[in-house]
Amino acid sequence: MSKNSLWWQNGIIYQIYPRSFMDTTANGIGDLNGITNKLDYLADLGVDAIWLSPIFPSPDVDFGYDVADYVAIDPRFGSMVDFDHLLKESHKRNIHIILDLVLNHTSDQHPWFKESRKSRDNPYHDWYLWKDPSPKGGPPNNWCSIFGGSGWEFDTQLGQYYYHMFCTGQPDLNWRHPEVRETLLNVFKFWLERGVDGFRLDVFNMYFKHSELPDNPKKLIGLRPFDRQVHKYEVSQPEMDPLLNEIRQLLDSYGSTYVVGETFLASPEHTASYCGQDKLHAAFNFELAESPWKVKRFTRAIKNWEKAVEDHAWPNYFLNNHDVTRSSSRYCRGEDDARAKVSAAMLLTLRGTPFMYYGEEIGMRDISLKHSQILDPVGKRYWPFNKGRDGCRAPMQWDDSVNAGFSSTASWLPVHPDYISRNVSKQKTEPGSLLNFYKQLIQLRKEHPALNQGSLSILDPQNKSILSYLRQTPDENILILLNFKQKQITYQLPKQIADQNWRVLFSEKRQIEELCQEQSILMTPYETLILVAD
Ligand code: GLC
Repeated sequence: MSKNSLWWQNGIIYQIYPRSFMDTTANGIGDLNGITNKLDYLADLGVDAIWLSPIFPSPDVDFGYDVADYVAIDPRFGSMVDFDHLLKESHKRNIHIILDLVLNHTSDQHPWFKESRKSRDNPYHDWYLWKDPSPKGGPPNNWCSIFGGSGWEFDTQLGQYYYHMFCTGQPDLNWRHPEVRETLLNVFKFWLERGVDGFRLDVFNMYFKHSELPDNPKKLIGLRPFDRQVHKYEVSQPEMDPLLNEIRQLLDSYGSTYVVGETFLASPEHTASYCGQDKLHAAFNFELAESPWKVKRFTRAIKNWEKAVEDHAWPNYFLNNHDVTRSSSRYCRGEDDARAKVSAAMLLTLRGTPFMYYGEEIGMRDISLKHSQILDPVGKRYWPFNKGRDGCRAPMQWDDSVNAGFSSTASWLPVHPDYISRNVSKQKTEPGSLLNFYKQLIQLRKEHPALNQGSLSILDPQNKSILSYLRQTPDENILILLNFKQKQITYQLPKQIADQNWRVLFSEKRQIEELCQEQSILMTPYETLILVAD
């Protein structure tokens, strides 16, 4: 399809959680045809690729992240015909499709696991990490599940334990087994042959565990047993490097495809070490999304990521995904979107591929649920200390009709009650809406090579309020000023750029093309100002 081999660098990638995007079958769950119906909306917004959270058959212990068949579509989402249609219609609009491959573990309902637990000599037994109890009895080592409790589950019939980093319904695969490796690489091929453009790899740096399964070293500090361990032996083992190389070669043989990995428990440097020419195109670094509303912290996150990727990889940024509280809920006060605009402007003008999460563009807030409504296994286990991830997975707010236009029937998770005033259809008609703000900035990013390809230099913060940086190509020089405070602030142009003539390229408050001749600029509260050198 697209001739533009740099689509994943220049473009915007939009994550859809299919259960919550658009329901066309009136079962309260979003589906593939729903996504196809909304492609014009996505094209108009300016997205270049869609990352679909898992669409494969799943018992939904972890809502799709427990896969029971890697080469089929969950019937609740539609059929393979619907998938091919979505792919074709997306490609027509120059929108790429990225699938979420969850290959660290399967569902315990996957036929491979069902076979593997039948007997110790079943051909599938070694496809998973089955071990005898330790000599003293009990689990083979001290590894924990991040979702709580031991990482080992005992099967009384077999007299062995299997390992699971997540729920007991998500047994980890044994990637050291040659047939597992070959079968999973064939999963990539299956979808590439159908025409998909790339993959997001769920917790890929967990595929290999240390072959001798040693105990993890202990740490003194941490709330839960999981947090009081150094995760030395169950993540980030060196065997991952040659595998990434193989995956990349496979993808490259299909043209301008893309693979982005979700790193688990890794520093920015370590995350970046998985990216490059013969590795992943990109990996997720969580520092920006985890930053509090402080210029200093955002600056640090950007500098760290820039330094980590250096020249060997292309950076990427996100503020939201299906595992974290929505940025609007983290940063905004009430229903006011001022901070959502500042953070959007940052995301869309940094050097690196911006990832968005459905509903971010209209500032969807997390829903709050009662204990009895919680569905996420994390929330079920840790309520009320951690209410889990349902909050950020509520149905998309399309309009002010029943169920926010998402479904004609009650949705799987409740719709946020603010949908009457916060929805796509309303924001489309309001020039100053967050949706139009996103659209304009996405457009600006596409039109200006300095914004999508240029270098980035952060200007030293003059105070704690303004984040300012330059994006530059040999022909274009763009200055971004973001006021993170709800007060007027005078920005003094730093010496190195003060002798240039700056014109307004984007502002909600000022005339476009207006010349800024003063050495200082009075920034209004939460203002985004983008200037271009004459
Ligand atoms: C990743 C997913 C998360 C899932 C976990 C187990 O972190 O993003 O949603 O629960 O992996 O697959």
